Amino acid sequence: MYTVFARKYRPRNFDEIIGQQHCTTTLKNAISKGRIAHAYLFAGPRGVGKTTTARILAKALNCDNGPTPDPCNECTHCKEILQGNSVDVIEIDGASNRGIDEIRNLRENARYTPSSSRYKVYIIDEVHMLTIHAFNALLKILEEPPPHIVFIFATTQPHKVPQTILSRCQRFNFRKIGFEDTLGMLKVIIEKENIKIEESALKLIAQKADGALRDAEGMLDQLVAYSDTLIKEEDVRNVLGLPRDDVFFNIQSYIVKGDTKEVLSLVQQMTVSGISPEEMLTGFLEHLRLLLLVNTNVKVDIPPKERERYTNAGSQLSSDVILRIMRFLLEARREMRYSENPDIYLLEIMARLSTFKAVPIEEIIESLEATPYSTERHPVVSEKKESYETDKIPGYETKQKDALKEMWKKVAGAVEKDSKTLASIIALGKPVAMNDDSMVVEFQKGFHRESVKDNKKLVEKHLSKIAGRNLRVVFKEGGIRTTEKESAMLKKALELFSAEVLSRGG
Ligand SMILES: Nc1ncnc2c1ncn2[C@@H]1O[C@H](COP(=O)(O)OP(=O)(O)O)[C@@H](O)[C@H]1O
Ligand SMILES: [Mg+2]
Ligand SMILES: [Zn+2]
Repeated sequence: MYTVFARKYRPRNFDEIIGQQHCTTTLKNAISKGRIAHAYLFAGPRGVGKTTTARILAKALNCDNGPTPDPCNECTHCKEILQGNSVDVIEIDGASNRGIDEIRNLRENARYTPSSSRYKVYIIDEVHMLTIHAFNALLKILEEPPPHIVFIFATTQPHKVPQTILSRCQRFNFRKIGFEDTLGMLKVIIEKENIKIEESALKLIAQKADGALRDAEGMLDQLVAYSDTLIKEEDVRNVLGLPRDDVFFNIQSYIVKGDTKEVLSLVQQMTVSGISPEEMLTGFLEHLRLLLLVNTNVKVDIPPKERERYTNAGSQLSSDVILRIMRFLLEARREMRYSENPDIYLLEIMARLSTFKAVPIEEIIESLEATPYSTERHPVVSEKKESYETDKIPGYETKQKDALKEMWKKVAGAVEKDSKTLASIIALGKPVAMNDDSMVVEFQKGFHRESVKDNKKLVEKHLSKIAGRNLRVVFKEGGIRTTEKESAMLKKALELFSAEVLSRGG
C-alpha cells in the first residue's frame, strides 16, 4: 500500500523535527530534568509539526525507558502511540468535539489512572474551537489536575483561546518552516524515493508551500502520481493550478504602461485555462506583496534569482502606489464574493487598474481614502449625481436628504461592530424617503439588497436606536445608474471580449 510522504516521513524523535529547535530543545531538557507540566499549548500555523511533536512528547512520557527525551520507538507503548491506538494517549479534534458534553466525558474519564502507561495524555487539536462552556469545564480540570494527566493543546489561532486557559499552559510557538529547510526535506525525500524532478520544480514547490512542510510533501505526492518521468516546473504549475509568475509580471508592466487591452487579454487567457477570478486576484495580490517587501528591503524567504526579478519589477512602482493598489484589490476581492458574475467583475477591476496612469493617481488615492462608508464602490469613478427629487414616493415625505444620509451612515457605523462586511454593504444603500414608521432605502444591486434584508432585524434595531423611535426599513430596487466613465470602461472591456465573456458568464 502507498503511504503518503507526510506520514512516511513523519519525524519519530524530537531531533528529526525540522525548524522548531526552540521548542524541541526546551521540551527535551524539561523531560531530562523531570519537570513535566500538566498542560502544554502548541501554537502555530498548520503543517509545521505541532501534532507530530505532541505525539513524540506522549512517547517520551510513556516509553518503557521513560520519561526520556529519546523514546525508543520499539516498546509496546511507543509502538501503540505510533499506530495511534494507545488507550492512554487520547487525541481529540476540537473542531468536531466542541461541546460541553465531550469535555464532561473527558473529565469523567480523566479521573481514572492510566491503564498501563505512566501518563494519560490528552491531545486536543484546534482547541480554540471549543465552546465557552467546554472551556469552562476544561478549566475545572486544569485548576486541579490529577497527577497522572498531561494535556497538549494545539491551535492555529491561540488568540481565540481564553486567557484563563492560556495562563495554565506552558506555551510553545511553532514557526513556519523556512524555504531552505523545506527544500532540504524535499531533497531527502526525492533521494530516498528515487524521484526525478527539476531543481526549479522542487524550488517552486518549496516556495508555494509557504512554510507548511505538510503541504510541500503533499504537493510532491501529487506530482509523483502525475508523472513517472522527469517532473518539470511546467508540471508543477499545471498540477497545482498555478498561474505562471510571468503572467503577473506582465500584467504589472501593462498596468504601468496603461495598456488595457493587453491586461484584459492576459486575464482572459488565465480564465480560459481554468483559473478562477478569485485565484487570479489572490495570485496578483501575492505578487504585489512580494514586490512591496522586496521594494522596502524586508527580508523575504525566496530564492535569490526570484528576488532579483522582483527587485527589477519593483523599480516600476513606488511602495506607496503598490500599497494603494493592494488596498484596492483587497476591497475588490471582498466585493467579488457578492458578485453574480465574477468573471466580468474581474475584467472591470483590471480595466480600472490599467487606467491608473491615464487618470491621475491622486484621483484613485482620493477615492480610496474617502470615508469608509463612501457610496462609491470603486476608485477611478467620477461623482455620481444625487437625484432625490426623482425619488418621490406616495405616503412618504422626502426629508432633508443630508439628514437621512447621516442617519443611514450611523446605522452602517453601528453595524460595523457586528459585521464589517455587512456594514460596507449597508453603506452602499441610499436612503430615499422616510415617514413616521419606516425608512425607504434603495439598493442598486439585488445581492446587496438581499444581504441587508437577511439582517433586517439587526438593521432596524440600530436604526430605531439612532432615530429614537421604532422604525422599519423598506427596501427599494434602484435603477441601473452608471456614471459615464463607468459605462465607457465597461463598454471598452466588453467590446474587447464580448462574445467569449458573455457566453461564459451566461
Ligand atoms: N517541523 C517538521 N519537521 C518535519 N516534518 C514535518 C514538520 N512539520 C510538519 N512535518 C510533516 O508534515 C506532517 C504533518 O505535520 P503535523 O505535525 O500534523 O503538523 P501540524 O499539526 O502543525 O498541522 C508530518 O507528518 C511531517 O511529515
Ligand atoms: Mg495538527
Ligand atoms: Zn519506547
